[in-house]
Amino acid sequence: MVLKRTAPVSPVRPQAAGQDPPAFEQTLRPRRLQEYIGQARVKEHLLLHIQAANARGEPLGHTLLSGPPGLGKTTLAHIIAQERGVSIRITSGPVLEKPGDLASILTNLQEGETLFIDEIHRLRPVVEEMLYAAMEDYALDLVIGKGPTARSMRLDLKPFTLVGATTKAGSMSAPLRDRFLHTFKLGFYTPEEMEQIVHRSARILEVSLDPAAAQLLASASRATPRIGNRLLRAIRDFAQVRGEKRISQEHVRTTLASLDVDSDGLDATDRMLMRMLIERFDGGPVGLGTMAAMLAEEEETIEDVHEPYLLQQGYLQRTPKGRVVTKRAYEKLGLEIPEAAQAALL
Ligand SMILES: Nc1ncnc2c1ncn2[C@@H]1O[C@H](COP(=O)(O)OP(=O)(O)O)[C@@H](O)[C@H]1O
Ligand SMILES: [Mg+2]
Repeated sequence: MVLKRTAPVSPVRPQAAGQDPPAFEQTLRPRRLQEYIGQARVKEHLLLHIQAANARGEPLGHTLLSGPPGLGKTTLAHIIAQERGVSIRITSGPVLEKPGDLASILTNLQEGETLFIDEIHRLRPVVEEMLYAAMEDYALDLVIGKGPTARSMRLDLKPFTLVGATTKAGSMSAPLRDRFLHTFKLGFYTPEEMEQIVHRSARILEVSLDPAAAQLLASASRATPRIGNRLLRAIRDFAQVRGEKRISQEHVRTTLASLDVDSDGLDATDRMLMRMLIERFDGGPVGLGTMAAMLAEEEETIEDVHEPYLLQQGYLQRTPKGRVVTKRAYEKLGLEIPEAAQAALL
């Protein structure tokens, strides 16, 4: 079955980079590689491989996109299809419950089409195994019948491109990972790139952002386009209610305060996480399970949403024994660094 996105209309929760209403995401989604801001190295390599495949008249090699939520994996999958001039079929790991679900998608693929499997690390093993031959030989191995009379049959598929997206490349099985020809890791965006992204989105949403407003918005967006767009939407609503067309830095500040997001993009959960590590565990090391339990959050949310940005910003470090806070975390919370900890802290 092919997943059609339904609209999970949720209150504004800027930090849980889940899905936004599809209409909103669609209007802001860059359609061509040229419009896609940042990720220069990924774009350069992708363009080269797309051009080479186009010139040979072959499908692009299977491509894996990894990185934290909201950095542009789904967007890039659509762009790949668009730049190849082919259509895209969308599904996701958890949606494909039975091998038959995948088989019916694969047998319906047209020559050269792109199959996008989101959250590919969550495929069930029986479904994943079916993908191996499909990716390698464009073939489907089916077992017909049961017990001693069962026989297997091989069905040819049309050549296609699989684009997989994952927030956890590390938890994918090696056989699956190895079958991708291209692997791209998306990284967090620089403040300059984030500014360009929020300016672009503002233009599309027909609001105007003061330069200082764009700067503050960019720095509060956790280096993540989806969060920038979501904050922009909340800010736009504020401005609209007040009947103002131009968005000032003050508007951004007020909205961030009402969402409990600070100018570095940290939210209440991030701050609580650091505070607990400091106050209850002398700064760590603490395991993921303990952190999740302390905050009454899912381990996955901590690992996918909160931790990557805290690590990237240098508030947190990963050690073999667990997570530890850095000097920067004490400074952020305005806490004094205990003398005993001074020397050990990074
Ligand atoms: N490089 C980019 N340039 C401009 N906007 C982007 C970029 N990457 C992502 N976005 C915006 O961020 C939103 C989330 O991106 P998406 O591709 O859905 O992220 P992911 O699939 O990695 O969670 C998209 O709606 C798009 O508008
Ligand atoms: Mg996505």
